[in-house]
Amino acid sequence: MEYDPNLVEGARIAREWAYAPYSNFKVGAALKTKSGKIFYGVNVENVSYGLTICAERSAAVTAVTAGEREWEEIAIVADTEKPITPCGACRQFLAEFNPALKVVVANTTKVHFTCTLTELLPYAFNLETLES
Ligand code: THU
Repeated sequence: MEYDPNLVEGARIAREWAYAPYSNFKVGAALKTKSGKIFYGVNVENVSYGLTICAERSAAVTAVTAGEREWEEIAIVADTEKPITPCGACRQFLAEFNPALKVVVANTTKVHFTCTLTELLPYAFNLETLES
């Protein structure tokens, strides 16, 4: 699947701003809208560990705050040999605005793979289910 290399590069740069003093595991995300704008996110941890927000959700809330809800692609970067995919909470959170979002999983030097959010979260809970 095609992906935007600029998006991956943006997530790599954003990752440096991650606040991860407890896990020392920095993650960066870059979310591209259908109009071509890019919003960045990093994981932001807290001394009350459970309050931590993942990079994917930070990027999502940044986009929504700017009034941008039409999403096309998200790149996620960690510094690991094996790919990291969005956690379950982030999958559901991202599915709110585009259940078919393109997902690019990368590390600091290479792209591991691309897939869709539908592949990562089949049978997602959604508004249609809620209202049926
Ligand atoms: N984390 C993310 O930001 N995104 C992911 O996809 C996986 C995990 C963060 C949460 C926490 O700050 C650290 O990585 C270790 O779990």
